[in-house]
Amino acid sequence: MVEKEFFKLALGLITASEAHERYRGKECINLIASEGLKSPAVEEMLSQTHDLESRYAEGENDLNGHVKARHYQGQKYMTKIENYTADLMKELVGCNWTDVRLVSGTHANLATFKGLSSATKNNRMVVLPLSAGAHITHDYSGLAGKVLGLETVNHAYNVNELNIDAEKSATIIEGTRPGIVTFGGSVFQFPHPVKELVKVAKETGAYIVYDAAHVLGLIAGGEFQDPFGDGVDFITASTHKTFPGPQGGVILANCEDERMKKAIKKVQKAVFPMTTSNSHLGRLPALGLAALELKLYGKDLAKQTIRNAQTAGKCLFENGIEVLGRKNGFTMSHQIVVDVRDYGGGQKLASDLEDANIILNKNLLPYDNQHNRGDPSGLRIGFQDVTRRGFKPNDIETLCSLILEVIKGKRNSTDVKKDIIKLRQSFPEIKYGFQSINEAKDYLKNLPKT
Ligand SMILES: Cc1ncc(COP(=O)(O)O)c(C=O)c1O
Repeated sequence: MVEKEFFKLALGLITASEAHERYRGKECINLIASEGLKSPAVEEMLSQTHDLESRYAEGENDLNGHVKARHYQGQKYMTKIENYTADLMKELVGCNWTDVRLVSGTHANLATFKGLSSATKNNRMVVLPLSAGAHITHDYSGLAGKVLGLETVNHAYNVNELNIDAEKSATIIEGTRPGIVTFGGSVFQFPHPVKELVKVAKETGAYIVYDAAHVLGLIAGGEFQDPFGDGVDFITASTHKTFPGPQGGVILANCEDERMKKAIKKVQKAVFPMTTSNSHLGRLPALGLAALELKLYGKDLAKQTIRNAQTAGKCLFENGIEVLGRKNGFTMSHQIVVDVRDYGGGQKLASDLEDANIILNKNLLPYDNQHNRGDPSGLRIGFQDVTRRGFKPNDIETLCSLILEVIKGKRNSTDVKKDIIKLRQSFPEIKYGFQSINEAKDYLKNLPKT
């Protein structure tokens, strides 16, 4: 390549990244259910950790999730940062052990599944079927099967209830005697029947893993299910979906008896040295700050997010769209799923909506041909981003009316796009959080003395 071409690439890169920030950050309405929205304070924190972002902190942690040993020098503040972040996460979610070194939800699942299959010496895992919204990391065709060599067996799924069939799954767990039983998924409107299956899973010697990648923020706000209260052993999650922190992952558990100690030690080994070298330390202060925001505003944020998702479900349904889960109120989480076969299918509509700057994703529905990933019947729509921008049910109805105009082909997308940009720009703030690090510090320094 001639040098001139190389420089052209660099300029192209800078220009594209500036254009992206404007486009998705200021001109689109983001309804991707797996993407979070950070507060200005969390953004500021991320942009301040220049040095930390360059560092390594390889080593072992103890059974409180604190730093035990580090193999490089220069760690005195890094150790504090990791320990504070771990403690904030444990306090927020209500448990006594965590690992915050995971760089993604996928990494959290990798380390947890690896650790637990070696603790149990059992490579069988009962999982939600992919067709019912499981994440690929749980499936034989993804991380679980192809990377870890686990043998996966599907939970029984009730399409009418959009949920795991507890009675049939109990029989499957008894018959399979797995080392791990998972709950949670990427399409996740209703709490899974954890309580109903904990006993049978534990009797067979399995550990229970709840994948809260999508719903950690709702759980932290106390507005979805309480996985630890229901009896799960481990929670794995992303820290950037309904939990509005920096991109990363986390594992949480209660280290309360020998059974859990044994498992946690194996999971820690699977984190380091098996799968981590640098752990993207620059994100930790931002993660801890997001935990503080959820402690203060998480309940209101989760409540409003769920209310907004339910409002959208009702509004789209009343206007002729098949919204799944109607008999149970469409959703109890941040997301809804709609069947748009009658209007051209998921692929076409996701693309038409994109042309109107409404960003969401096409999705396979449980009854679709599961090989037809390119053109599924559904769309998945998440409301955590717009909620944090301040959308209330009447704003959701305005948004739905624009979505309906595109779905029904009443106006062309480029025309609707003008209204979407206006709507987006009428919500310039990010709520349920701090506007700056100084605002967070002032709040913490001036806490009422109780
Ligand atoms: C249920 C579930 N688990 C795990 C993941 C993987 O998380 P990450 O994208 O942080 O690797 C996702 C991603 O969307 C998910 O939906």
